[in-house]
Amino acid sequence: MGLGIDWIISSCRLLAAIGEEFDQTRPFEDLRIGTGIHLEPKTVALLLTLARGGAEVVSTGNLNTTQQEALDHLNANGVRAIGSPTSDPGEHDHYLREVLATEPDLLLDNGGDLFVRWLEAPYEQLIGGTEETTSGRMRLAPLREQIARPVLVINDSPIKQFAENRHAVGQSTVESYLRITNRSTNGKRVTIFGYGACGRGVAAHFRNAFAEVSVVEVDPVTRLEALLDGFPVPDKADALQHADVVITATGARGVLTAADLPQLADGVVLMNVGHFPLEIDVPGIEAEAVSKEPAADGITTLGLAGGRRVHLLTGGHMVNLAGPRPLGNSVESMDLGFALQARCLEAVARGQAGPTDCVVPVPPEIDAAVASAYVELSAHP
Ligand SMILES: NC(=O)c1ccc[n+]([C@@H]2O[C@H](COP(=O)([O-])OP(=O)(O)OC[C@H]3O[C@@H](n4cnc5c(N)ncnc54)[C@H](O)[C@@H]3O)[C@@H](O)[C@H]2O)c1
Repeated sequence: MGLGIDWIISSCRLLAAIGEEFDQTRPFEDLRIGTGIHLEPKTVALLLTLARGGAEVVSTGNLNTTQQEALDHLNANGVRAIGSPTSDPGEHDHYLREVLATEPDLLLDNGGDLFVRWLEAPYEQLIGGTEETTSGRMRLAPLREQIARPVLVINDSPIKQFAENRHAVGQSTVESYLRITNRSTNGKRVTIFGYGACGRGVAAHFRNAFAEVSVVEVDPVTRLEALLDGFPVPDKADALQHADVVITATGARGVLTAADLPQLADGVVLMNVGHFPLEIDVPGIEAEAVSKEPAADGITTLGLAGGRRVHLLTGGHMVNLAGPRPLGNSVESMDLGFALQARCLEAVARGQAGPTDCVVPVPPEIDAAVASAYVELSAHP
């Protein structure tokens, strides 16, 4: 059945409304937009919307995540999509440089890859653009003086924080647990490591799914917040001894290691939500195991000395983006983020952001406009 690109596009209601407006207002007339963002159905909806605004869009994907069907769909619908799915950094670098060789007027960047390469061979007519991620913001912030153009950072919008990191990650983590294990959440003792935006959402969604949720958090103030939100906040050893499911959502390395194995109950399920597959030290834990068997698609069962078993989901990679049929975060949460993208690029194209707006959060008036549009659409299903 494929990726259901048409279904995704028709579910992006904010982008559809912006696309209708762009058909008339054409904010990107005579401009070229270069993009380097994951190429999958939801980003296809974004890039086609930008094209409706008059832009010539030249795009490539990110390392490891490009989907061939997305490339084909874009190329068949007037957006030039460069490259192919690749895990080779050299090949990916070549594709990014191909995008820049077309000298786009605006850049839609993800992780700072395009702006950093533009700085190697800058051309004058670049107006500015957007950056999707926190990691890109950290990479580009020290380069502000050299970039000297507006770059608006989408992830720093409060809307991204609560719509995607909290609500959507919480929901997709529960969905992934159910899909991969086919086990229930009811009455399960679930321990979440980390009570940031993601951890808060994961805790809330498992509680709403009738699990008994506890939180382990290293920051005392955030730990207090979890307690006041109604979650027990045991220390790590105590939490691990009683958990049926353990979830890491910290962004930190080595949250669960082989040293924690003695505490784990027989049959515990381990999964990670954080960006890097380093929160659970899989190589260290596997080195202690006496057996390793695939139990189902996305589940590895490790046998420990003494007979206990540990079930690891998706090899410790982000559970909502790895494993069988990974869907990622909900279309609505991505639609919100991409509406911010479209509006920010429009503001840069129209000269409403200047050189001092280099690597800054989404302007509050854009947050307000996108929030109001979503509320308005919700009232008229
Ligand atoms: N899977 C997804 O779709 C998705 C989406 C967005 C973000 N992420 C990733 O999820 C991770 C968390 O993001 P966030 O926005 O919640 O970050 P955050 O910084 O808001 O929160 C992380 C929390 O973890 C706590 N923490 C750090 N080390 C810990 C430890 N060893 N034990 C217990 N608590 C610890 C911190 O004190 C903090 O409160 C990041 O890696 C982020 O990139 C994943």
